[in-house]
Amino acid sequence: MSLLAGKSGIVSGAAQGLGSAFAHALAAEGADLVIFDVKAEVESVAESLAAETGREVIGLVGDVSQRADVERVVATAIERFGGIEVLVNNAGTWRDTPVDSPWQQAVADWDFIMDTNLKGVLMLSRACVPHMRGRSNANIINVSTYYVLPARSSGTNQPHTDLYNASKWALNGFTDAWAGHLAADGIRVNALCMGATDTPMLRNLFEGGRLPPELADVVMQPEQMAALMLDIIREGPEGRSGENIGAWVGESVELGPRKPVYGRITGFNQRQERPRD
Ligand SMILES: NC(=O)c1ccc[n+]([C@@H]2O[C@H](COP(=O)([O-])OP(=O)(O)OC[C@H]3O[C@@H](n4cnc5c(N)ncnc54)[C@H](O)[C@@H]3O)[C@@H](O)[C@H]2O)c1
Repeated sequence: MSLLAGKSGIVSGAAQGLGSAFAHALAAEGADLVIFDVKAEVESVAESLAAETGREVIGLVGDVSQRADVERVVATAIERFGGIEVLVNNAGTWRDTPVDSPWQQAVADWDFIMDTNLKGVLMLSRACVPHMRGRSNANIINVSTYYVLPARSSGTNQPHTDLYNASKWALNGFTDAWAGHLAADGIRVNALCMGATDTPMLRNLFEGGRLPPELADVVMQPEQMAALMLDIIREGPEGRSGENIGAWVGESVELGPRKPVYGRITGFNQRQERPRD
């Protein structure tokens, strides 16, 4: 039987990139879905996903930073499916805001980034949790970045990505706190923390949307992250929770052993491990 037969899920920001790959993987494993995005293309993504997988996939235009949209998305899922087993908090956004940029720009960018990357995660998760309680193998997957794994990398937190970084570091707090709090309800909460992955967000950083050849050769694919997400779900109700799961360019993408408690958030595997240069 498929991993997610008879289950249902919600994916935010699923019109393209990682979100559409997460949705594809969930539906291919048998889940019915509500997917949403600020981009209207999410409706055609849902239609083709439904045709391809035979699952019910509802595509809604909605903004995760708007409470009314979030509540409409969750209400649709409950009306159609009766409950939620998987929530993928994928919608995310980025702006270049160096610390010496004009105040007005910095404050506007703060609202734009934090409202989506953080307040959106807060609202969507709060709306879903009551409907995830008591479901078998319920999972919240937060989509973060390898920037938050200091034990495995150097040179992260580039100055121009400070607001984006701050939003993803704050996401650590949600992942950790919710994992602890929701354990009693059987809801696991983990974060995927990946490096460069070939999506429109990454390509938009480069002239003409073309990845430089040295990056094009090694960039990870959204489908690899989607497979990682399925591996988390596959671990079942006794699986890991509260972990930042890394994926690095140039390394094999795998779940790896469960991290000890002191390494769940930072990426440390062993007490003796030191950051590489
Ligand atoms: N691509 C990478 O290299 C990479 C690396 C690390 C983390 N991430 C994270 O992965 C997630 C997905 O990124 P991606 O690379 O696929 O980006 P993307 O920009 O290609 O896709 C993101 C999708 O989210 C949607 N979205 C943005 N704001 C929204 C909002 N307020 N409400 C609803 N939908 C919204 C966009 O319209 C878009 O369709 C993000 O959280 C991002 O921070 C990406």
